[in-house]
Amino acid sequence: MDRRLPGQVRDAIVDFLASRAEGATVGEIHTGVQMRCGGSVPASSVRSYLNLNASEVFYRVDKGFYRLRLFSSAQPARVDEAAQRQHQVGKATLILGDCLAWLSRRPPNSIHAVVTDPPFGLVEYSAEQKAKLRAKRGGVWRIPPSFDGHTRSPLPRFTVLSDTEKQSISSFFLRFGRLLYPVLVPGAHLIVASNTLFSFLLSGALSGAGFERRGEIVRLVTTLRGGDRPKNAHHEFPDISVMCRSMWEPWVVFRKPIENRVQDNLRAWGTGGLRRPSKDQPFADVIKSHTASRQERQIAPHPTLKPQAFLRKVVRAVLPMGTGVVLDPFGGSGSTLAAAEHLGYESIGIESDAQYFEMACAAIPKLAALKV
Ligand SMILES: C[S@@+](CC[C@H](N)C(=O)[O-])C[C@H]1O[C@@H](n2cnc3c(N)ncnc32)[C@H](O)[C@@H]1O
Repeated sequence: MDRRLPGQVRDAIVDFLASRAEGATVGEIHTGVQMRCGGSVPASSVRSYLNLNASEVFYRVDKGFYRLRLFSSAQPARVDEAAQRQHQVGKATLILGDCLAWLSRRPPNSIHAVVTDPPFGLVEYSAEQKAKLRAKRGGVWRIPPSFDGHTRSPLPRFTVLSDTEKQSISSFFLRFGRLLYPVLVPGAHLIVASNTLFSFLLSGALSGAGFERRGEIVRLVTTLRGGDRPKNAHHEFPDISVMCRSMWEPWVVFRKPIENRVQDNLRAWGTGGLRRPSKDQPFADVIKSHTASRQERQIAPHPTLKPQAFLRKVVRAVLPMGTGVVLDPFGGSGSTLAAAEHLGYESIGIESDAQYFEMACAAIPKLAALKV
């Protein structure tokens, strides 16, 4: 008798494809599913599940070749390598490409810290959703209601994610963490932007990859997320908010385990602790912030641009001795690299979208030069 739980084959397919951004043949998916389910799964079950869900969850790249829909923007690794471009601004190196492919080729123990703002829900940066965003046609990107006549920037609507998409987030960040781990030196800090709805998925995945959780930075920033009354029933329930109005953003703090004591690791690798803002002041985990200024948004009109004032504090802290290489694997408009450049730190950024890559090439020196 087949004792598999309902959904086990589906979950195994999603988990396997989440580890193969470039996609896989039905035969490869079948083998991956068998390994995950620990037994014989008929190839016909895999095939019929792929057929049934081809438009919703999977993307049929070619006959018998599938990719997770949220990776529908990902270039196959061989195309990505051929198309890879690099740009240098001062001590910042920006690379056009997929960070997973890049990490898989990077030498071990060659990066000293990571500060990054990944796509929280992954789907929002799929080719399909970016096309909707650029055409101002919605999708998961929503314009928050305007009460004061000001034009609002689009925000991704994360409450609509399905269980399968949430599972894909965990699988993606687990794979990301596993590829990142050997590339970092012992004691390297990893500070990653998240969202109050998903930070537990990100934290679980990074812990699963072997990193130790060291806390969470509260970026105090008021967004237009949450706080709304029930949709189409706000007159009936004027005193009710469906969920909290978001007044902060979590940035999870992880570290690759250190060798021996912190002072030993600092001597050997230059990492393991956090740089103090001044001798009398430790780096603290609540940072007052604001959304990126109008000037920053004009320089770098990326939909999820982070402000220099905040990033410079965080980036400064992650290199305790003031030397080493800071990586931003999800570079966007290059704001982390700009902060590193401002501080005189060496940095590397990876961005998979050609338009954002071009934006970053132009924005990094301007953002780095801004007085904030
Ligand atoms: C949240 S945004 C980062 C925005 C950035 N903080 C800024 O201030 O401009 C995430 C970025 O990661 C990029 N991205 C998504 N998947 C990627 C991948 N696999 N490799 C590299 N970049 C990726 C997206 O195109 C997007 O620009």
